[in-house]
Amino acid sequence: MKLIVVKDYEAMSKEASNIIKNLLKEKPNATLGLATGSSPIGLYQNLINDYKNGEISFKDVKTFNLDEYCELPKSHKESYYSFMHRNLFSQVDIKEENVHIPNSEGSDLQALCDEYNNMLHNATIDLQLLGIGANGHIGFNEPNTPFGKETWVVELTEKTRQDNKRFFNSIDEVPTHAMTMGIKNIMQAKCILLVANGKNKAEAIKMLASGAVTEACPATVLNLHPNAIVIVDEEAASLIK
Ligand code: F6R
Repeated sequence: MKLIVVKDYEAMSKEASNIIKNLLKEKPNATLGLATGSSPIGLYQNLINDYKNGEISFKDVKTFNLDEYCELPKSHKESYYSFMHRNLFSQVDIKEENVHIPNSEGSDLQALCDEYNNMLHNATIDLQLLGIGANGHIGFNEPNTPFGKETWVVELTEKTRQDNKRFFNSIDEVPTHAMTMGIKNIMQAKCILLVANGKNKAEAIKMLASGAVTEACPATVLNLHPNAIVIVDEEAASLIK
């Protein structure tokens, strides 16, 4: 795993978006695995600017998102479907048919997981972007998720629901479940790029940087990946010795 420490959120976003920009220049039909949350917003903004400056195009890019809340319709402003369209897709030339986001709208969630998982089996993700939860989760794979898991429905921990409360009016509105790529799916990407900023990520980053590999901190699985890059700001790196 390659760890890059930069000053702040802006530098983290720049470093990460440059990696994706260079990939898209080299391989205009790349398949990207994408994440939501606060961490990637800055890098998505940089990619939008790179697109507007004519440096890159998304017209042949395919994307697969990590996860989606259950219990929220796509049309809800906090669904990850809405998030991705608001923060990236509506501002670049990506084709809607090339966008894949887990579909959690339906009564047979297992069938919907299987459908997404089959799509992942038929794709090769060139680069998987990740954020990290304060508890070390990746996607919505919470601590003690077996590394062998594929797309599934997870019950969110109280910690994750509290962390995500900031996007909702109250904790009662935060979904209790989410559909997520499993850790096995994530590990199949050719390259993994994790970004983290802020003090509340410091414990998880310390664990990851220690070289440990433990299901108690899901992100530590990246220590087993041949091509993982972790870009963190100084606050997130503050507990690394
Ligand atoms: C989002 C996702 C989550 C987030 C993580 C960090 O698609 O899979 O693992 O990356 O919860 O969220 P932020 O970036 O909001 O701190």
